[in-house]
Amino acid sequence: MLERAKRLLQPSARSAVPPFMVMDVMTAAARLEAQGRKIIHMEVGQPAAGAPAIAIAAVRAALSSGPLGYTEALGIPSLRRRIARAYAEWHGLDIDPERIVVTTGSSGGFILAFLAAFETGDRVAMALPGYPPYRHILTALGCEPVGIETSAATRWSITGESLLAQHRAKPLKGVVVGSPANPSGTMMTASALTELIRCAEDAGIVVISDEIYHGLDYAFAAECAARISSDVIIINSFSKYFCMTGWRIGWMVVPPPLVRAVERLQQNLAISVPTLSQIAAEAAFEGRAELEAVRRGYEENRRILLDGLPRVGLDSFLPADGAFYLYADVSRFSNDSFAFATRMLEEAGVAATPGVDFDPVRGRNFLRLCYAGGREEMCEAVERIGNWLKKDAT
Ligand SMILES: Cc1ncc(COP(=O)(O)O)c(C=O)c1O
Repeated sequence: MLERAKRLLQPSARSAVPPFMVMDVMTAAARLEAQGRKIIHMEVGQPAAGAPAIAIAAVRAALSSGPLGYTEALGIPSLRRRIARAYAEWHGLDIDPERIVVTTGSSGGFILAFLAAFETGDRVAMALPGYPPYRHILTALGCEPVGIETSAATRWSITGESLLAQHRAKPLKGVVVGSPANPSGTMMTASALTELIRCAEDAGIVVISDEIYHGLDYAFAAECAARISSDVIIINSFSKYFCMTGWRIGWMVVPPPLVRAVERLQQNLAISVPTLSQIAAEAAFEGRAELEAVRRGYEENRRILLDGLPRVGLDSFLPADGAFYLYADVSRFSNDSFAFATRMLEEAGVAATPGVDFDPVRGRNFLRLCYAGGREEMCEAVERIGNWLKKDAT
């Protein structure tokens, strides 16, 4: 019986995407916690804080005021209008609410964007190091992800030149950019983003801009791709700035020619995004004071790590411009970041993500540390990492 089932239920080739290693680190950390160890979590990129109080209050009220049915596939109209208004407030942009699509997290937005813009077999570029699901979602959808190695010389971003070099070698159909970026925390300047978008669009390459870490920019203001071109597909989310990871809600700004295609896809793939989450998201815009306090906490955490870690021996990072990540070069200690992270977890009780998740080759020398936790935890992390590096790490 088992043999028959195994023959029948062969996983498809396109489902053979690599695991998201950070999840494996989480599992290992949970195992240690179950044994009574206190672990400092710097592996998962999620805010320690929850949704703003006003969002919770809106959900409570909605729960007692009638059934929660489906919504329109593109989202509750008042939420789409509120998101459009945020572009006016944040960037002085006039965005038609008809272009706003509410999605199940930015993760849902990527699936819709890739399906609407690309055919199977299309080649789509992204930076290495970079957020792994860009590559893995594209693979699962039958597209070909093309990683472009970035370096300090270009602030760890894809440039127009590096994009066109790949395009000349074999044509690209799209490029995904993210600023602030995960895992590096680096940002593209407005002129670098403008140059990249211009080069891409002149060459017929569709740009998808992942703006999920907007609002969490410390070195300089993050540029919104919609200020540069109305042909860019913008992906954003309530997960990071709005502290709503588990609510699974995000949004897209879609160029007009693709709106109907995205709507048809959403109708069929999801029907609509959870209604309660949409209600919470609309209210969350009024929780700015709370969210700004959380953001100030990240800035303080960033300062603690940037001051403290070099003093204890971890002194080489990519520019920590935004988001809540430090991408640390650990090559002085190890060229196997998975083994290094495993030992740091077991021996120092600090969970971090090995760089190989984000860059299969050079990531062997890097570790990503997330600083979205509490202030005390950051101070303790510096102390624990310092003691461990002194005693055991080499
Ligand atoms: C760069 C980037 N994009 C997208 C996502 C997906 O987030 P969500 O689906 O919660 O919006 C993440 C999550 O960590 C991320 O780091």
